[in-house]
Amino acid sequence: MKTQPDNNWSVADSAALYGIDQWGEGNFSISASGEVNITIPFVSGEVNIPVIDIIRGAHDRDHQLPLLLRIENLLDARISEINNTFRQAIQKSAYRGTYHGVFPVKVNQERTVIEEISRFGADFDHGLEAGSKAELLLCLANLNKTGLLICNGKKDRDFIDLGLWATKLGHRCFFVIESPIEVPLIIERSRKLEIRPLIGLRIKVSTKVGGLWTETSGDRSSFGLSTPQLIATVDTLRQADMVDCLQLLHCHLGSQIPDIEEIRAAVGEASRFYADLVTEKVPLRYLDLGGGLAVDYIGNQSLHSHSRNYNLAEYCCCLVETIKATLAPHKVDHPHIITESGRATVAHTSILLFDILNVMRYEAITLPSSCPHNSHSLVSQQYQLYKNAAKIDLTRGYTEALTNRDRIREMFRDGAIRLRERALAENLFLAILHTLSDRAEQLEEIPVALMGLKANLADIYYGNFSVFQSLPDTWAIGQMFPIMPIQYLNERPDRNASISDLTCDCDGKLDRFVLSGGESKTLPVHQLKEGEDYILGTFLMGAYQETLGDLHNLFGDTNVINIRINEDGGFDIIEEQSGDTISEVLNMLEYNPTSFYKGFRDKLELAVKQKRISVTERQKILNQFSIQLNGQTYFKT
Ligand SMILES: Cc1ncc(COP(=O)(O)O)c(C=O)c1O
Repeated sequence: MKTQPDNNWSVADSAALYGIDQWGEGNFSISASGEVNITIPFVSGEVNIPVIDIIRGAHDRDHQLPLLLRIENLLDARISEINNTFRQAIQKSAYRGTYHGVFPVKVNQERTVIEEISRFGADFDHGLEAGSKAELLLCLANLNKTGLLICNGKKDRDFIDLGLWATKLGHRCFFVIESPIEVPLIIERSRKLEIRPLIGLRIKVSTKVGGLWTETSGDRSSFGLSTPQLIATVDTLRQADMVDCLQLLHCHLGSQIPDIEEIRAAVGEASRFYADLVTEKVPLRYLDLGGGLAVDYIGNQSLHSHSRNYNLAEYCCCLVETIKATLAPHKVDHPHIITESGRATVAHTSILLFDILNVMRYEAITLPSSCPHNSHSLVSQQYQLYKNAAKIDLTRGYTEALTNRDRIREMFRDGAIRLRERALAENLFLAILHTLSDRAEQLEEIPVALMGLKANLADIYYGNFSVFQSLPDTWAIGQMFPIMPIQYLNERPDRNASISDLTCDCDGKLDRFVLSGGESKTLPVHQLKEGEDYILGTFLMGAYQETLGDLHNLFGDTNVINIRINEDGGFDIIEEQSGDTISEVLNMLEYNPTSFYKGFRDKLELAVKQKRISVTERQKILNQFSIQLNGQTYFKT
């Protein structure tokens, strides 16, 4: 189906509608032909690569949608930006410490991501943060020579021994004490192995910050030492003749902190802890302020929990200047600043791309030009309302349509109305609601009764992906990611839709969208065109999503490609990973797919014996079974 070109719609309208220039921060743009580009600045000029070209390249290499696309240039750009902006803030404020970034591995543990952070980050001494033994092993295998290694999380004897060996190997590996019970173990193991550890203390600041992770800070947070515990730990280490090991003070306020003033207050409090500990002759050198640097998923620079009211430069200046100002009266040397920015480092690097498989519409299918003879009086009444819908009072019309519909359904249940009459009545109901909703949209203020009507009449676009595997935070914590079509952006999006995934779960849906710098329950989309794919991209989803996902309905990992965009205008596919096969997913749940095959073959053999299928059919079915076991879990178009 070809849509008519709309001279009143331009790519600039699409850009404004989907807010791509705001949340995209210059990394994405729309071409004159209406396609989303990835935009990479090079010394010789900007290179723009249409996402659809990358999808075609992946397709030619047998990687179908859904596809997770990682753009290494964007990851590198974020690492340099964070480091350079801190360096500038330090220089501007004549601050006497240095900046050290560390990437918290839990935010994206994927091998290629960690390898790239370690490789590219080496020039900036960018380090890694581990929160578990497994993450520590991963860090030890990947960390560059100069980056810091920060060990948070609960530490058992094996964890501590590994960290001590890392110190002996020359890594600057800090054990951040989260709880007093770790102290005797660290003292004991370091004496036993005769390795002096580097120790950090995680404090609980009382300043609370807003956003979705407000419980991370404050007295009741489950991490860190209370002030009395902090003092007791310092005393214990001093008695053990290990106070010289205490070189770092740590606090993590929470993730995605929207308000810079709250960050300033918390950093000020942490700096006061730092000043007094140094005054007490604790030889601290580093102040680690954890994560919290927010990503503006909405792009409106607001206090919304998915936005932030500051930019990177303001964040860096806030940290540097607050520490400097707080320490000034105490005549304490400026500490080296560490931050553990996770989402701000990796969010932009990944895009989830999926195609739309089909659409459910909430509108009348066919309507007769007059009400059929012998219709039930209630159906005739609904027909009359439909005819008058363009002029009837909006609220009255809506109430009447609803009442008629419910009574007709009741009559149907009682056997007084036939199925075909009910079908006509439901068509009429939808037609009335569309007319009322369109009229309400023209008003300055939508009547209360009709609010939400547009969302209820919106299409459902069924996407080839799983929310639970690829975008788990949208389900778990109501996270919003920017979502938009990657083509046809020079055409007006003439439909409104919510998105459903492939799982048989009513939670497997997306119904909160970033739109025009705000929030909407529906996404403007284009009508599907026969024979053409309609592909949506979910942007800024590189943090937390890739590893939190689960196997709901046994949908496994999608195909993944990592690309690097080149200065000559081309791109290289650096890494390709095929999504999970059905067999692999079954294996993860402790099934044995080989025994599945054998069991199914026995069933077929019995069916041959009972003459229900022929031997040729047996072979055909068995081949299919085997192909499916080795095939991928998503819908094959
Ligand atoms: C200790 C610690 N550091 C850093 C982070 C990363 O935070 P963000 O992704 O907000 O940068 C987290 C995540 O919550 C964390 O728990």
